[in-house]
Amino acid sequence: MKQKLIAVVDSGSGGLSVWQAMVALLPHESMVYVGDHAHLPYSGKTTAYIRRRILSIVRFLAKLQVKLVVIACNTATVAGIDYYRQHVSNIPIIGVVPVVKTAAELSKKRSFAVISTNYTAASRYQHDLIKKYAGDCYVINLGCSNLVRAVESGHVKGASVRRHVEKVLAPLKNSDIDYLALGCTHYPFLSSIIRDVVGSGVQLLDSGAAVARRVQRVLEQTQTLAKTGKPKYLFLTTGEARNVTRVAQLLLDRKIDFTKVNI
Ligand code: DGL
Repeated sequence: MKQKLIAVVDSGSGGLSVWQAMVALLPHESMVYVGDHAHLPYSGKTTAYIRRRILSIVRFLAKLQVKLVVIACNTATVAGIDYYRQHVSNIPIIGVVPVVKTAAELSKKRSFAVISTNYTAASRYQHDLIKKYAGDCYVINLGCSNLVRAVESGHVKGASVRRHVEKVLAPLKNSDIDYLALGCTHYPFLSSIIRDVVGSGVQLLDSGAAVARRVQRVLEQTQTLAKTGKPKYLFLTTGEARNVTRVAQLLLDRKIDFTKVNI
């Protein structure tokens, strides 16, 4: 039987950080990645716009008969995870939200920060997460949308990016936090610089591994987990394939090729 694909979706290349964690945990799963680079960034757009884009992509993927969809984008998840599930109910859809719960569980200082896009930071979803899981903590909820552009242009190393990250994370300076949750899937690609800027007393948390484990559980429950075989990976973008390929190879440090698709 032909193996069905898992789909991974993001506004751009950030979701590749989740893809990477999934490849590590689920080495036999074939996957199709869709980056909506032509409509990036989602943060700054309306909720209706983000929902329309994601729903079009999920419907496109449903025609490819994928077995599960991962919305590897915090912004798109908080914009409407239930909405996507209502409209495409025959495929499991897993979203990504900032790991506020984990940070609250781990923080000894009862003080942590979460950085995400401005859309996510301002969302009701994020405020509810903080209220529900971190009511007894001091939480710095910082919107840093402009870090997304740095990753999308492949600028994840060097002195000028470091200065940029320093400026963006200035509100965390002198704060007494012990954890920093990366609430945007683009940010793990900047983690070595972020770690350097916030210092060794602050642990970074991202969602990739947790999402991969969740995918594994759902595949086990639906008895669709691939246990053998060499996986195939397909990379699609609504943007300019050559440029997206160049940046993605740089981010992942492996040879991959994006193909343009109109969705
Ligand atoms: N990667 C997306 C996220 O996790 C955001 C980028 C965007 O604003 O498009 O939130």
